[in-house]
Amino acid sequence: MKVLNFGSLNIDYVYSVNDFVQKGETISSDKLNVFSGGKGLNQSLALSKAGVEVYHAGAIGEDGLLLEKLLRDNGVNTKFLRILSDVRTGNAIIQKNNEGDNCIILYGGSNKAISKEMVDDALENFEKGDWLLLQNEISEISYIVEKAYEKGMKIVLNPSPMNDRIFDINLNYIHCFILNEVEAEALTEKSDDKEVLLKKLQEKFPHAEIILTLGEDGSLYVKNNEVIEQKAYKVNVVDTTAAGDTFTGYYLAERLNGKIVKDSLDTAAKAAAIAVSRNGAAPSIPQKDEVLNF
Ligand code: RIB
Repeated sequence: MKVLNFGSLNIDYVYSVNDFVQKGETISSDKLNVFSGGKGLNQSLALSKAGVEVYHAGAIGEDGLLLEKLLRDNGVNTKFLRILSDVRTGNAIIQKNNEGDNCIILYGGSNKAISKEMVDDALENFEKGDWLLLQNEISEISYIVEKAYEKGMKIVLNPSPMNDRIFDINLNYIHCFILNEVEAEALTEKSDDKEVLLKKLQEKFPHAEIILTLGEDGSLYVKNNEVIEQKAYKVNVVDTTAAGDTFTGYYLAERLNGKIVKDSLDTAAKAAAIAVSRNGAAPSIPQKDEVLNF
Protein backbone atom coordinates (compact mmCIF):
# COMPACT_ATOMS: atom_id res chain seq x y z
CA MET A 1 0.00 0.00 0.00
CA LYS A 2 1.46 3.36 -1.10
CA VAL A 3 0.49 6.89 -0.02
CA LEU A 4 0.43 9.84 -2.42
CA ASN A 5 -0.12 13.44 -1.40
CA PHE A 6 -0.85 15.55 -4.48
CA GLY A 7 -0.53 19.04 -3.08
CA SER A 8 0.77 22.57 -2.92
CA LEU A 9 4.18 23.85 -1.90
CA ASN A 10 4.55 27.49 -0.89
CA ILE A 11 7.09 29.95 0.33
CA ASP A 12 5.36 31.69 3.24
CA TYR A 13 6.11 35.38 3.91
CA VAL A 14 4.89 35.92 7.45
CA TYR A 15 4.37 39.48 8.68
CA SER A 16 3.90 39.91 12.45
CA VAL A 17 1.29 42.60 13.09
CA ASN A 18 -0.66 43.90 16.08
CA ASP A 19 -3.93 43.83 14.13
CA PHE A 20 -4.79 42.68 10.61
CA VAL A 21 -4.76 45.40 7.97
CA GLN A 22 -8.19 46.87 7.18
CA LYS A 23 -9.59 48.27 3.94
CA GLY A 24 -7.80 51.49 2.96
CA GLU A 25 -5.22 51.13 5.72
CA THR A 26 -1.44 50.94 5.53
CA ILE A 27 0.18 49.36 8.54
CA SER A 28 3.71 48.47 9.61
CA SER A 29 4.74 44.98 10.61
CA ASP A 30 7.14 44.23 13.45
CA LYS A 31 8.86 41.34 11.77
CA LEU A 32 9.08 39.40 8.50
CA ASN A 33 9.85 35.68 8.56
CA VAL A 34 10.14 33.45 5.53
CA PHE A 35 9.08 29.85 6.10
CA SER A 36 8.42 26.76 4.01
CA GLY A 37 4.73 25.97 3.75
CA GLY A 38 1.78 25.14 1.58
CA LYS A 39 -0.96 22.84 2.82
CA GLY A 40 0.35 20.01 0.68
CA LEU A 41 3.95 20.27 1.81
CA ASN A 42 2.93 20.67 5.46
CA GLN A 43 0.75 17.56 5.34
CA SER A 44 3.45 15.49 3.62
CA LEU A 45 5.93 16.53 6.29
CA ALA A 46 3.49 15.63 9.05
CA LEU A 47 2.81 12.22 7.48
CA SER A 48 6.51 11.51 7.14
CA LYS A 49 7.42 12.73 10.62
CA ALA A 50 4.62 10.53 11.94
CA GLY A 51 6.27 7.54 10.31
CA VAL A 52 4.51 7.02 6.98
CA GLU A 53 6.33 6.70 3.67
CA VAL A 54 4.71 9.33 1.47
CA TYR A 55 5.15 10.41 -2.16
CA HIS A 56 4.60 14.11 -2.71
CA ALA A 57 3.41 15.09 -6.20
CA GLY A 58 3.17 18.74 -7.17
CA ALA A 59 5.18 21.50 -8.80
CA ILE A 60 7.65 24.20 -7.85
CA GLY A 61 9.54 26.81 -9.84
CA GLU A 62 13.31 27.05 -9.88
CA ASP A 63 13.07 29.45 -6.94
CA GLY A 64 11.53 26.72 -4.79
CA LEU A 65 14.29 24.12 -4.68
CA LEU A 66 14.57 24.59 -0.92
CA LEU A 67 11.08 23.12 -0.60
CA GLU A 68 12.09 19.97 -2.43
CA LYS A 69 15.19 19.67 -0.24
CA LEU A 70 13.12 20.09 2.92
CA LEU A 71 10.78 17.30 1.86
CA ARG A 72 13.65 14.99 0.91
CA ASP A 73 15.58 15.76 4.11
CA ASN A 74 12.50 14.69 6.03
CA GLY A 75 12.09 11.41 4.21
CA VAL A 76 9.35 12.39 1.74
CA ASN A 77 9.70 10.82 -1.71
CA THR A 78 9.78 13.66 -4.29
CA LYS A 79 9.96 11.47 -7.40
CA PHE A 80 6.71 12.99 -8.70
CA LEU A 81 7.54 16.60 -7.91
CA ARG A 82 8.05 18.69 -11.05
CA ILE A 83 10.46 21.62 -11.25
CA LEU A 84 9.10 24.08 -13.81
CA SER A 85 11.29 26.66 -15.50
CA ASP A 86 8.58 29.09 -16.59
CA VAL A 87 6.63 29.82 -13.39
CA ARG A 88 7.54 30.92 -9.91
CA THR A 89 6.86 28.80 -6.87
CA GLY A 90 3.56 29.37 -5.09
CA ASN A 91 3.68 31.74 -2.17
CA ALA A 92 1.59 32.95 0.72
CA ILE A 93 1.49 36.40 2.29
CA ILE A 94 0.54 35.73 5.90
CA GLN A 95 -0.37 38.30 8.53
CA LYS A 96 0.09 36.88 12.02
CA ASN A 97 -1.29 38.81 14.99
CA ASN A 98 -0.32 38.77 18.68
CA GLU A 99 -2.91 36.05 19.42
CA GLY A 100 -1.26 33.76 16.88
CA ASP A 101 -4.18 34.02 14.43
CA ASN A 102 -3.57 34.59 10.76
CA CYS A 103 -4.93 35.95 7.46
CA ILE A 104 -3.52 34.43 4.28
CA ILE A 105 -3.30 35.58 0.65
CA LEU A 106 -2.17 32.86 -1.74
CA TYR A 107 -0.39 33.23 -5.02
CA GLY A 108 -0.79 29.86 -6.75
CA GLY A 109 2.18 30.08 -9.14
CA SER A 110 3.52 26.58 -9.85
CA ASN A 111 0.70 25.01 -7.79
CA LYS A 112 -1.73 26.19 -10.46
CA ALA A 113 0.40 24.78 -13.28
CA ILE A 114 -0.51 21.16 -12.51
CA SER A 115 -1.76 19.68 -15.77
CA LYS A 116 -3.72 16.52 -16.62
CA GLU A 117 -0.54 15.10 -18.12
CA MET A 118 1.31 15.57 -14.79
CA VAL A 119 -1.57 13.91 -12.98
CA ASP A 120 -1.58 10.92 -15.35
CA ASP A 121 2.19 10.59 -15.03
CA ALA A 122 2.09 10.45 -11.24
CA LEU A 123 -1.03 8.31 -10.89
CA GLU A 124 0.18 5.59 -13.24
CA ASN A 125 2.49 4.53 -10.39
CA PHE A 126 -0.38 3.86 -7.99
CA GLU A 127 -3.03 1.19 -7.83
CA LYS A 128 -6.12 -0.14 -6.08
CA GLY A 129 -5.78 0.09 -2.31
CA ASP A 130 -3.24 2.94 -2.38
CA TRP A 131 -4.16 6.18 -0.63
CA LEU A 132 -4.44 9.70 -2.02
CA LEU A 133 -4.43 12.82 0.12
CA LEU A 134 -5.61 16.08 -1.43
CA GLN A 135 -6.20 19.71 -0.45
CA ASN A 136 -7.51 22.61 -2.55
CA GLU A 137 -4.45 24.66 -3.48
CA ILE A 138 -3.50 23.06 -6.82
CA SER A 139 -5.09 22.89 -10.26
CA GLU A 140 -6.88 19.78 -11.64
CA ILE A 141 -8.19 18.51 -8.30
CA SER A 142 -11.43 17.15 -9.77
CA TYR A 143 -9.45 15.30 -12.46
CA ILE A 144 -7.12 13.87 -9.80
CA VAL A 145 -10.09 12.57 -7.80
CA GLU A 146 -11.73 11.12 -10.92
CA LYS A 147 -8.60 9.24 -11.99
CA ALA A 148 -7.67 8.08 -8.49
CA TYR A 149 -11.20 6.77 -7.91
CA GLU A 150 -11.14 4.91 -11.24
CA LYS A 151 -8.01 3.16 -10.01
CA GLY A 152 -9.60 2.19 -6.72
CA MET A 153 -7.45 4.47 -4.58
CA LYS A 154 -8.82 5.62 -1.23
CA ILE A 155 -9.18 9.37 -1.20
CA VAL A 156 -8.80 11.66 1.80
CA LEU A 157 -9.91 15.23 1.13
CA ASN A 158 -9.05 18.28 3.19
CA PRO A 159 -11.21 20.82 1.27
CA SER A 160 -9.05 23.74 2.26
CA PRO A 161 -9.14 26.56 1.36
CA MET A 162 -12.85 26.27 0.56
CA ASN A 163 -14.02 27.72 -2.74
CA ASP A 164 -16.26 26.75 -5.66
CA ARG A 165 -13.65 24.43 -7.16
CA ILE A 166 -14.51 21.90 -4.44
CA PHE A 167 -17.94 21.50 -6.02
CA ASP A 168 -16.36 20.35 -9.29
CA ILE A 169 -15.22 17.23 -7.46
CA ASN A 170 -17.46 14.19 -7.26
CA LEU A 171 -17.59 14.22 -3.47
CA ASN A 172 -19.21 10.79 -3.36
CA TYR A 173 -15.78 9.41 -4.24
CA ILE A 174 -14.24 10.65 -1.00
CA HIS A 175 -13.42 8.05 1.63
CA CYS A 176 -12.53 10.50 4.38
CA PHE A 177 -13.11 14.23 4.87
CA ILE A 178 -10.99 16.24 7.29
CA LEU A 179 -12.49 19.71 7.45
CA ASN A 180 -13.20 22.70 9.64
CA GLU A 181 -16.54 24.37 10.42
CA VAL A 182 -16.36 26.90 7.58
CA GLU A 183 -15.70 24.12 5.09
CA ALA A 184 -18.38 21.90 6.63
CA GLU A 185 -20.98 24.67 6.40
CA ALA A 186 -20.08 25.30 2.77
CA LEU A 187 -20.70 21.62 2.02
CA THR A 188 -23.96 21.49 3.96
CA GLU A 189 -25.58 24.57 5.51
CA LYS A 190 -24.90 27.08 8.25
CA SER A 191 -25.33 25.80 11.79
CA ASP A 192 -24.14 27.05 15.18
CA ASP A 193 -24.48 23.56 16.63
CA LYS A 194 -21.45 21.36 15.91
CA GLU A 195 -23.37 18.12 16.46
CA VAL A 196 -26.01 19.22 13.94
CA LEU A 197 -23.29 20.12 11.46
CA LEU A 198 -21.73 16.70 11.89
CA LYS A 199 -25.11 15.03 11.38
CA LYS A 200 -25.71 16.99 8.19
CA LEU A 201 -22.32 15.97 6.86
CA GLN A 202 -23.04 12.36 7.63
CA GLU A 203 -26.42 12.51 5.91
CA LYS A 204 -24.79 13.99 2.83
CA PHE A 205 -21.82 11.61 2.75
CA PRO A 206 -23.12 8.44 4.45
CA HIS A 207 -20.22 6.25 3.35
CA ALA A 208 -17.42 8.59 4.36
CA GLU A 209 -15.45 8.96 7.55
CA ILE A 210 -15.76 12.58 8.66
CA ILE A 211 -13.53 14.52 11.00
CA LEU A 212 -14.71 17.99 11.89
CA THR A 213 -11.92 20.08 13.40
CA LEU A 214 -13.02 22.78 15.83
CA GLY A 215 -9.82 24.63 16.76
CA GLU A 216 -9.57 25.11 20.51
CA ASP A 217 -12.74 23.01 20.94
CA GLY A 218 -11.01 19.90 19.59
CA SER A 219 -12.55 17.70 16.94
CA LEU A 220 -15.47 15.37 16.24
CA TYR A 221 -15.36 12.14 14.25
CA VAL A 222 -18.32 10.32 12.75
CA LYS A 223 -18.77 7.14 10.72
CA ASN A 224 -21.84 4.88 10.70
CA ASN A 225 -23.46 6.94 13.47
CA GLU A 226 -20.52 6.39 15.80
CA VAL A 227 -19.38 9.77 17.11
CA ILE A 228 -16.02 10.22 18.83
CA GLU A 229 -15.04 13.46 20.54
CA GLN A 230 -11.48 14.65 20.90
CA LYS A 231 -10.43 17.54 23.10
CA ALA A 232 -7.78 20.05 22.08
CA TYR A 233 -4.74 20.22 24.35
CA LYS A 234 -4.21 23.63 25.93
CA VAL A 235 -0.90 25.28 25.17
CA ASN A 236 0.51 28.76 24.85
CA VAL A 237 -0.61 29.78 21.34
CA VAL A 238 2.18 31.37 19.30
CA ASP A 239 1.11 30.73 15.70
CA THR A 240 -1.84 28.63 14.50
CA THR A 241 -0.52 28.34 10.91
CA ALA A 242 -0.35 24.68 9.81
CA ALA A 243 -2.03 23.35 12.96
CA GLY A 244 -4.75 21.83 10.76
CA ASP A 245 -2.16 20.39 8.38
CA THR A 246 -0.29 18.83 11.29
CA PHE A 247 -3.53 17.33 12.59
CA THR A 248 -4.43 15.95 9.15
CA GLY A 249 -1.01 14.40 8.50
CA TYR A 250 -0.72 12.86 11.95
CA TYR A 251 -4.27 11.54 11.99
CA LEU A 252 -3.91 9.86 8.63
CA ALA A 253 -0.48 8.47 9.49
CA GLU A 254 -1.75 6.93 12.70
CA ARG A 255 -4.72 5.33 10.94
CA LEU A 256 -2.48 3.96 8.18
CA ASN A 257 -0.21 2.58 10.89
CA GLY A 258 -3.15 0.59 12.21
CA LYS A 259 -4.16 2.73 15.19
CA ILE A 260 -7.83 2.97 16.19
CA VAL A 261 -9.68 6.23 15.52
CA LYS A 262 -9.73 7.38 19.15
CA ASP A 263 -5.98 7.02 19.60
CA SER A 264 -5.26 8.53 16.19
CA LEU A 265 -7.34 11.61 17.03
CA ASP A 266 -5.53 11.95 20.33
CA THR A 267 -2.08 11.77 18.74
CA ALA A 268 -3.15 14.25 16.05
CA ALA A 269 -4.47 16.66 18.71
CA LYS A 270 -1.15 16.49 20.56
CA ALA A 271 0.82 17.10 17.36
CA ALA A 272 -1.40 20.09 16.49
CA ALA A 273 -0.99 21.52 20.01
CA ILE A 274 2.79 21.42 19.61
CA ALA A 275 2.47 23.08 16.19
CA VAL A 276 0.46 26.04 17.54
CA SER A 277 3.05 26.62 20.25
CA ARG A 278 5.69 27.31 17.58
CA ASN A 279 6.24 29.81 14.81
CA GLY A 280 5.83 29.09 11.12
CA ALA A 281 4.17 26.41 9.04
CA ALA A 282 6.63 23.62 8.16
CA PRO A 283 9.04 24.41 11.04
CA SER A 284 6.25 24.02 13.59
CA ILE A 285 5.45 20.40 12.71
CA PRO A 286 6.79 18.13 15.45
CA GLN A 287 8.71 14.88 15.22
CA LYS A 288 6.92 11.73 16.40
CA ASP A 289 8.98 11.36 19.58
CA GLU A 290 8.04 14.92 20.63
CA VAL A 291 4.38 14.01 20.18
CA LEU A 292 4.74 10.79 22.17
CA ASN A 293 6.44 12.72 24.99
CA PHE A 294 3.88 15.53 24.99
O1 RIB B 1 -2.25 25.70 6.21
C1 RIB B 1 -1.20 26.61 6.27
C2 RIB B 1 -0.68 26.91 4.91
O2 RIB B 1 -1.68 27.55 4.16
C3 RIB B 1 0.50 27.85 4.86
O3 RIB B 1 1.73 27.19 4.96
C4 RIB B 1 0.30 28.59 3.56
O4 RIB B 1 1.28 28.35 2.61
C5 RIB B 1 -1.07 28.19 3.06
O5 RIB B 1 -1.00 27.24 2.08
